[in-house]
Amino acid sequence: MSRIHVLHENPAWLPPLAEAFDRNGLPWTEWFLHEGTFDLAAPPPPGVFYNRMSASSHTRDHRYSAELTAAVLAWLTRWGRRVVNGPGALDLEISKVRQYAALEQHGVATPRTVLVAGRGTIAAAAERYYPGQPVIMKPNRGGKGLGVQLFASSDSLAAFVESDAWQAPVDGLTLLQEYVRAPRPVITRAEFVGGRFLYAVEVDTSGGFELCPADVCAIGDANCPVGEAPRDKFTIVEGIPDPLRMRLERFLAVTGIDVAGIEFISDAAGRTLVYDVNTNTNYNPDAEHRAGLAGTDRSGPGAIAAFLKRNLARVAGESLPPGA
Ligand SMILES: Nc1ncnc2c1ncn2[C@@H]1O[C@H](COP(=O)(O)OP(=O)(O)O)[C@@H](O)[C@H]1O
Ligand SMILES: [Mg+2]
Repeated sequence: MSRIHVLHENPAWLPPLAEAFDRNGLPWTEWFLHEGTFDLAAPPPPGVFYNRMSASSHTRDHRYSAELTAAVLAWLTRWGRRVVNGPGALDLEISKVRQYAALEQHGVATPRTVLVAGRGTIAAAAERYYPGQPVIMKPNRGGKGLGVQLFASSDSLAAFVESDAWQAPVDGLTLLQEYVRAPRPVITRAEFVGGRFLYAVEVDTSGGFELCPADVCAIGDANCPVGEAPRDKFTIVEGIPDPLRMRLERFLAVTGIDVAGIEFISDAAGRTLVYDVNTNTNYNPDAEHRAGLAGTDRSGPGAIAAFLKRNLARVAGESLPPGA
């Protein structure tokens, strides 16, 4: 029987999707890609495959899940299976440098970024490219904001890199990036499903850089000053400017990405810079509830279920004999 196969490595992120699939009566199963055996000569089961491999998989003790997923996707595509967020999506998920190259190629501006390999060369690169300026240091393979740090100057960055607190990025690649100063402490994350804009959510960054929207990632109100009402961290907003939306949709079409959350910041000078493409995107249930989207096809999980349902119907139609 044709079904939806969800490829992932974090069970904690599945429940909202499971709920939407079940509400739509969709047949589905999960593939937990941490360990496994795959006979490359045998055809994969029928159905639609939805890749949700995450750039941060190595932080959950799944160091090789991304590599395993790339191999499994090659097997699936060799057998002609429909893969949602296929090899092109995984390729960008695990490399910000490749994201930025593809974005710039499609006319989408990204922050000025310097790629550095080798711990011993980072301090000198910061001094050379960001003298006397604040600088953001982040791993090339990111996720959840882990390892993203703002330094007031290249001196404080140099001291950090030489200290015991330094942790090498999993792929050995470090990015030094211009600090984009927003007039208000917010970033915008635009959600796309089936390659089309769904909604945008404004995220309050005053509590730090770890911005995972999933409920299971919530860190509570620890950052809320005593006596102040906690502000909602995620708020769904009207939309994004048409030219940006159209460029991003084109970028997604060309790179083969069906589902993504794309993050950008606008600075006081009016520049809008895209700095993160999440092909494994999670949605904030409270924000969706407040916007009246929860449980509908306009929520993130609801839109994904509807999109996969259409794909499943197409695949099932293709496997019918002609004229049936
Ligand atoms: N160049 C930048 N200027 C200002 N803030 C940034 C910049 N890059 C990242 N940040 C902040 O850090 C957060 C995490 O960075 P991001 O590049 O999205 O890493 P990840 O892939 O781990 O989510 C962002 O959502 C934003 O709040
Ligand atoms: Mg991010």
